[in-house]
Amino acid sequence: MSRARRWSLTLVGIATAAFVVQSMASASAPREYRWELPKGFPKPNVPSNNPMSAAKVAVGRRLFYDVRLSGNGTQSCGSCHRQELAFTDGKAQAIGSTGQAHPRGAQSLINVVYNSTLTWANPSLVTLERQMEVPLFSADPVEMGVTDANKDQVLRRILKDPWYKARFQKAFPGQKQPITWSTIIKSIASFQRSLVSADSRYDRYLTGKERFTAAEKRGMELFMGERAECHHCHGSFIFNDQVTYKGSPNVKPLFHNTGLYNLGGTGAFPEPNRGVFELTGVAKDMGAFKAPSLRNVGVTAPYMHDGSVPTLEAAVEHYAGAGRNITDGPLAGDGRANPYKDPLITQIELTAGDKADLVAFLKTLTDRRVLTDKRFSDPFKR
Ligand code: HEC
Ligand code: HEC
Repeated sequence: MSRARRWSLTLVGIATAAFVVQSMASASAPREYRWELPKGFPKPNVPSNNPMSAAKVAVGRRLFYDVRLSGNGTQSCGSCHRQELAFTDGKAQAIGSTGQAHPRGAQSLINVVYNSTLTWANPSLVTLERQMEVPLFSADPVEMGVTDANKDQVLRRILKDPWYKARFQKAFPGQKQPITWSTIIKSIASFQRSLVSADSRYDRYLTGKERFTAAEKRGMELFMGERAECHHCHGSFIFNDQVTYKGSPNVKPLFHNTGLYNLGGTGAFPEPNRGVFELTGVAKDMGAFKAPSLRNVGVTAPYMHDGSVPTLEAAVEHYAGAGRNITDGPLAGDGRANPYKDPLITQIELTAGDKADLVAFLKTLTDRRVLTDKRFSDPFKR
């Protein structure tokens, strides 16, 4: 037999074996996860080492709301990410399980599966699995407060619960001990990926199911138009400017300085909230933050990374003036003149009526259904 022919026979053998293995796997694997995607939403990206399944989402939902997952048993992910507030907490800055204040505010998790990067200003944090190590294990600031000293104890609390025993077995079939930190993290990530929803008045307006008031319509035109320019940074289907989905173009995620601070006229933001600069130390990254999704922004006050803007009216005022001028106190400085400010943040001529219209439009982005959707609610509350 020629050498070439022997090779091709071997290849057929390998291909056949691979086919057998594959069909065995599909016979035992859970059915493919059924996404319930809003109209116009693309198929999400999911890491190949953590495919979605209904069983994992169910386990993750309970873990997300389980206070036993924090070191001192007082706090769950759901303590800072409350469903009725679009998975934020209503505080300017979050408070961890040991009472320590976080420097930044808790972010909404609705449609989080589409975010290219996670948290307010970290270009390298791109998977929910990796991000979760922060709330679980971080010592500064303490969030859930799981440490080397209490890690095993926390895991035992989950291991002892018969509900988890049965469900983890289903979610991670074929594993001798399916309850581990790795499978806990995978389950919660799957639950977070399932938090997809877009059933706001705006969405109903788009599909012709509801009408906008004249004010909402004018607000939308301002938002999408070249006078207010909001859409440049909040123009995606989730109203931000860095999204990822199946087949999305591979572009570098953007971060922007919107002129909130300018300490002593140097361009500096207060530590440790200097945005991407905290990681890179590069001047142009000073005060650069991610533009958050504006979906549900009507229920996520206070605003910006540090909750320093109390209302939507104040947020619109901030943009109209091309930044914020703080005239006294330790944070004094004219943000409007911040040298690192994004060039798109420029003075906008807006009448009082225009401002009210913009606010009216922003309020149409609230999806009332997702705030009470039973699939995402706290299973410990009966
Ligand atoms: C003490 C309050 C607190 C707890 C508890 C908490 N978080 Fe958060 N979460 C925050 C804050 C604050 C941020 C913003 C962090 C930053 O920018 O540094 C955040 C950001 C996030 C983000 C990024 C969202 C985005 O759009 O970029 C995800 C995802 C997240 N949290 C998931 C979780 C999960 C999962 C848990 C439980 C394991 C959890 N959080 C527990 C306060 C909390
Ligand atoms: C150059 C990009 C850019 C433009 C243009 C822009 N934004 Fe933003 N937006 C951001 C960034 C970045 C943040 C977060 C800033 C921070 O936390 O420091 C933000 C935050 C917000 C928030 C607070 C959201 C929250 O959850 O805290 C609102 C509301 C908002 N923008 C509305 C608007 C409106 C209305 C316009 C048009 C008038 C607009 N934005 C134009 C980049 C932009």
